[in-house]
Amino acid sequence: MLSKFKRYPLTFGPTPIEKLSRLSAHLGGMVELFAKREDCNSGLAFGGNKLRKLEYIVPDAIESGADTLVSIGGVQSNHTRMVAATAAKIGMKCRLVQESWVPHEDAVYDRVGNILLSRVMGADVQLVDEGFDIGIRASWENALADVKAKGGKPYAIPAGASVHKYGGLGYVGFAEEVRAQEAELGFRFDYIVVCTVTGSTHAGMVVGFAQDGRQRKVIGIDASATPAQTKAQVLDIAQKTSALVGGKDITGEDIVLNEDYAYPVYGVPSQETLQAIRLSARLEGMMTDPVYEGKSMQGMIDLVKKGFFPAGSKVLYAHLGGVPAINGYSYTFRNG
Ligand SMILES: Cc1ncc(COP(=O)(O)O)c(C=O)c1O
Repeated sequence: MLSKFKRYPLTFGPTPIEKLSRLSAHLGGMVELFAKREDCNSGLAFGGNKLRKLEYIVPDAIESGADTLVSIGGVQSNHTRMVAATAAKIGMKCRLVQESWVPHEDAVYDRVGNILLSRVMGADVQLVDEGFDIGIRASWENALADVKAKGGKPYAIPAGASVHKYGGLGYVGFAEEVRAQEAELGFRFDYIVVCTVTGSTHAGMVVGFAQDGRQRKVIGIDASATPAQTKAQVLDIAQKTSALVGGKDITGEDIVLNEDYAYPVYGVPSQETLQAIRLSARLEGMMTDPVYEGKSMQGMIDLVKKGFFPAGSKVLYAHLGGVPAINGYSYTFRNG
């Protein structure tokens, strides 16, 4: 579905699928859990889901003649770290707007983890005191204008690389990759669990898995705590991406978004999220973060416990990365 689109390689290639045997057994052994390790997809600054998206955006950025990638996220945004790494790799400058999306006050929150890495990679990091919103922000538009005013040529990458004409393509590719891996494994996954916030990861998967009728088996776990806005954005991106790649028609019913695990708010882990992070770390040595993957891990564990997945199901957890942010939660984990 993607052969007509230019792709600039930023990842190692297909990501491994790993069986989570001890976690599956711990949860009763009725459901087989696997993880697709998007968190291990690249040598660029710890990798993660944004690189699959950026692979289809970079050719457009280069063709535009831009000299500066401009993007936005929270203080501990994984996405802005990935944009900083991409800019370094392709020889562009990077301007990042980091808003106060998370009401979290760890003493070193704005010094460690993702923001530290972005600074080391040479990004021009600007902290802005605005709250959480996945939409288009004035602060980002101001940064674009500022780069221009200073004689630069900006290339605009919205939050999460989501509301970009090519933002959904990378995860269409994920679905194609899973199908190829299933052919080798000799079985198909019954469900795919994905953390959803700005929407293009989930949207791309919906378009990709719609090819074999599995789009409603993509279970989005909301981590935005603004699920109506997130769901509308997933649908919009999925419909536009499907039109772009010549895919199937996508309707609202195709977007399955579970709202139960994002509490209390974006970026703040509940006690249950912390328990899920510890459980997968202690049973599988697989690290997840308090903002995104810990919430989807919590969701998957709870759904297994509730019997949501019929006995015998094979469930694929898309591990999208994000672990560097855990450094911003050092006090929370001071005793492990
Ligand atoms: C680690 C991680 N997981 C999940 C997501 C959610 O992906 P999306 O914004 O495409 O919905 C993000 C980014 O927002 C992320 O960095």
